[in-house]
Amino acid sequence: MLYLDQYNFAGKKALVRVDFNVPLNERFEITDDTRLKASLPTIKKILNDGGAAILMSHLGRPKGEREERFSLKHLVGYLEQALGTKVHFVDDCVGEKVEAAVKQLPAGEVLLLENVRFYKEETKGDEQFAKQLAALGDVYVNDAFGTAHRAHASTAVVARFFKDKVCGYVMQAELDNARRVMEEAERPFTAIIGGAKVSDKILVIERLLEKVDNLLIGGGMAYTFFKALGGEIGSSIVEEDALDLARTLLKKAEDKGVQLLLPADSVVADAFAETANTQIAPSNQIPAGWMGLDIGPEARKQFHETIVQSKTVLWNGPMGVFEMKPFAEGTKAVAEALAEATEKGAFTLVGGGDSAAAVNQLGYAGRVSYVSTGGGALLELFEGKELPGVKALES
Ligand code: 3PG
Ligand code: MG
Repeated sequence: MLYLDQYNFAGKKALVRVDFNVPLNERFEITDDTRLKASLPTIKKILNDGGAAILMSHLGRPKGEREERFSLKHLVGYLEQALGTKVHFVDDCVGEKVEAAVKQLPAGEVLLLENVRFYKEETKGDEQFAKQLAALGDVYVNDAFGTAHRAHASTAVVARFFKDKVCGYVMQAELDNARRVMEEAERPFTAIIGGAKVSDKILVIERLLEKVDNLLIGGGMAYTFFKALGGEIGSSIVEEDALDLARTLLKKAEDKGVQLLLPADSVVADAFAETANTQIAPSNQIPAGWMGLDIGPEARKQFHETIVQSKTVLWNGPMGVFEMKPFAEGTKAVAEALAEATEKGAFTLVGGGDSAAAVNQLGYAGRVSYVSTGGGALLELFEGKELPGVKALES
C-alpha cells in the first residue's frame, strides 16, 4: 500500500475520495464536522506539496437523482474557512464543465465536485462512470474510510484506472487503530457493545468473544439477553427471533472465559418520551408497561470499574436513548470511564455512527484515544471482512 507521506504531489492534480457524508440541519448547516475535520490534513498535505485537490464525495442517499438538500455546495464555506484557500465548486462530477474546471485549477487550490450519488452509476460501480471520474486526476487518493465498505465507482472501481493510488491519512489511521485493537490489544481488553439490536452486531460480538477479556452489553439489545435468560423485561425492546442467538453468545462467552456483563439495573420509563415517568429497576424485573431506556446506576458503576481497569477499550453503540436527556446518563458514564482509562494510559477507540455522535455531543471526543469516522465500515472491518475501498488501493 502506498501512503500519503510516501508521495510527492508537486505539480499533480489529485482526485481525492473523501467521506463528506455529514449531518446537516434544515438550514443546511453542518451539525457534526468530525469527518470534514478529519480529512483536512490529507488535503493540506496535497496542497502544501504544490498539488491541487479535486474532492469527490457522496452526501446522503439521493438514489441517482439531483436533490438540492444533498448538494455538496453546502460544504464550500466550511472548507474555505478550514483550509484557508480557494475552494471552487462545480455542480456536477463528470463531463465537460467539470473537465474545464479541472483544467483551470491552479496548484494550492481545491475543486469540490457535486455529489457522486446524483448518478445511479456511482452505487452500481459502473466502470464507464468510474473511468470518467478517473480522467480528472493524475493520482487517486482514497481517504473515505467511512465509505470503504461500499464497492462503488468512486470508492473502489475508479482505482483500476490509476497507476498511482494512495492511502490517505484518515484511511491509514483508521486501519492502524483497528489493527491495534483487534491484533495487538494490550490486556485487559474490554469491549462495550450497545445499540438497539443484537442481530446487527452478531458477527462483531462473535469475533470479539475470541479476543476480549470483558464484554459489556448495554442499549436496547441487552433486553433480548435478559429475556433469553428468563427475565421480566416489561415492554422493553426485544428481538424475539434472536433469543436462541443470545443464549448461544452467552454460552460462547462462558466457554471462552470472557466475562460478559449485562447491565444489572435499568432506567425504566412508562413511555418512549423525554417527558415519561421514570424509575430504576433490576433489568430482569422490569414491571409490566415499563421499558428500559438506559442502563441504571448500579450498571454504570460496574461498567465504570471494568473499563478503568482496562488497557484497551473498544466502544460501539450507545447505552441508552442518549438523545433524550433522562436516558443519557449511561452513555455519559461510559464516555467518562473511557476518558479516565485514557488518562491512565489505555488505548480507547470509539467507533460507529451513534457512539461517535454521542461522544462528540457529550464533549468527550478530545479525551479518548480515537473516534472513528466509520459506522458500517468499522463494523465490517471488525467482522474481519475485506473492505472494497481498501482492497482497491492494494492491487
Ligand atoms: C456512512 O455514513 O455510513 C457512510 O458515509 C456510508 O454511507 P452509506 O451507508 O449511505 O453508504
Ligand atoms: Mg451507513
